[in-house]
Amino acid sequence: MKFFVDTAEIKDIRDLHATGLLDGVTTNPSLIAKSGRQFKDVIKEICALVPGPVSAEVAATDYEGMVAEGEVLAKIASNVVIKLPLTLDGLKATKYFSGKGVKTNVTLCFSANQALLAAKVGATYISPFIGRLDDINVDGMDLIHDIRAIYDNFDFETQILAASIRSANHVTQAAIAGADVATIPPAVIYKLADHPLTKSGLEQFVKDWKSTGQSIL
Ligand code: E4P
Repeated sequence: MKFFVDTAEIKDIRDLHATGLLDGVTTNPSLIAKSGRQFKDVIKEICALVPGPVSAEVAATDYEGMVAEGEVLAKIASNVVIKLPLTLDGLKATKYFSGKGVKTNVTLCFSANQALLAAKVGATYISPFIGRLDDINVDGMDLIHDIRAIYDNFDFETQILAASIRSANHVTQAAIAGADVATIPPAVIYKLADHPLTKSGLEQFVKDWKSTGQSIL
């Protein structure tokens, strides 16, 4: 399973890239607003830092506008993935970009039918939003299972990018459900390495090793 980080904060991206765990980055207009920085500058900086796919989302909601903006974003770097909303105009723009060999990430997916449409227009990634479904009392993980089954039935190559992940358990469950990628907030990625028994076990080993008076070097 690939890990993308869901942030527009360069420091977080730099730190996570250094761990060797990071395969890519996703951003959205809300994350860009939170960063307080110029969109295209941030994308350029992220792309120079991380060699993997970097999703940059269009702001327009009409087909022509999405195509025009996507063309500009695609020129920023070769690893830019054009992120488009799951609307009919967004799907049409996805078809346009996939026809040109430009990678796409179809976002704001909340149903299996929507995911089916994204695959039919050749999306590189589909982003089902797990956490936002959980928020309205619908099990977001069921959607990942359903999309996995549909894509496997028809050998669709669109990759399932589990999004709106809020907890370490979401990551586990998305991996079990067969998501190809999870895009995860930085704080949740760090939590994946934590376990109280690892912490206490290591403390004991350090103490016992000290008592031997030995040195490996
Ligand atoms: C995905 O691409 C989105 O940027 C993101 O995962 C949304 O997460 P949220 O529902 O926590 O805002």
